[in-house]
Amino acid sequence: MEQEIEKLKKEVLNFDEKDISNLTEIRNRYLGKNGILNKLFLEFKHLSIEDKKKVGAPLNELKTIINEKLNKNQKTNRVPKFKSNIDFTLPGVDEKIGSIHPISHVTNKIIKMFREVGFGLSSGPEIEDDWHNFTALNMPESHPARDMQDTFFVSLQPDMMLRTHTSSVQVRYMESNKPPIRIISPGRVFRNEDISARSHCLFHQIEGLCVDENINFSDLKLIIKYFINNLFGKNTKIRFRPSFFPFTEPSAEVDIFWGLNSETDYRITKGTGWLEIMGCGMVDPKVLKNVNINPEKYSGYAFGMGIERIAMLLYQIDDIRLFYENDKRFLSQFKGLN
Ligand code: DAH
Repeated sequence: MEQEIEKLKKEVLNFDEKDISNLTEIRNRYLGKNGILNKLFLEFKHLSIEDKKKVGAPLNELKTIINEKLNKNQKTNRVPKFKSNIDFTLPGVDEKIGSIHPISHVTNKIIKMFREVGFGLSSGPEIEDDWHNFTALNMPESHPARDMQDTFFVSLQPDMMLRTHTSSVQVRYMESNKPPIRIISPGRVFRNEDISARSHCLFHQIEGLCVDENINFSDLKLIIKYFINNLFGKNTKIRFRPSFFPFTEPSAEVDIFWGLNSETDYRITKGTGWLEIMGCGMVDPKVLKNVNINPEKYSGYAFGMGIERIAMLLYQIDDIRLFYENDKRFLSQFKGLN
């Protein structure tokens, strides 16, 4: 028995205190009801007085070592118990999880649609110079959009402004990339407009641009049709209306048929049933020349749309200001959109 005790002492002393993976098991083995220690003490009871004298001290020593080693360990590794008056049976406090802003949601949706047909992403600065926002886009000095009334100028010499549209990114992209080009550029734009339910001085646009050999108006129609059918439903009726933009020729505006079923339909479509959704056209050869792309060889189309307007239609929101007020009651309605 003496030898056994010696062996056990060594074993316990070698026990790695940091290894807590099987601590309970080890503790049970030594200290449990049918554990080693109890067994030894039982055996001890039946020993002769002489043997008891020999074994008593080492056995007690073993007991101390075991207790010290395994219980010390228990103290350091135990999950701290804390006293508190908290009633754990009460219902918990609900964690409020945010939701993706409807503008981001629509933007992501549109990006995904265009990505699927080969368009890349591109972005440009919100503070823009005259060349990229106006001049390169064939907007003459007399163009009304250049008026102080419409544009937030940051400095006048040189002319720097908050960009009034994402068409500026077209110019930047074409300056540093050669065709074939297929990009969309989402971003914030700014206009010096009175804030009302229908307009704001800050809003979002997505610009699209495709430049390659042999690009024509039917390519533009195809992509717009693809986009609108994806966003508003397969059977959405659309029409192209002749229009004017300085940077495209010919230019068009795209309308979708909204219907005239309710009073709201009458109001938002001004009694026509049609809603304007975007501007588009074939990139004006002058714009291509401005960015050193040969218009004899290449042609392209471009389009631009307001994201707020699309989000308002999709989610039947009738006041643009709601997008910027961060009212939780409004935003929380967009949880779980896909
Ligand atoms: N930049 C125009 C605007 O802000 C939108 C637009 C119209 C963009 C026609 C285009 C386009 O690329 O071809 O109103």
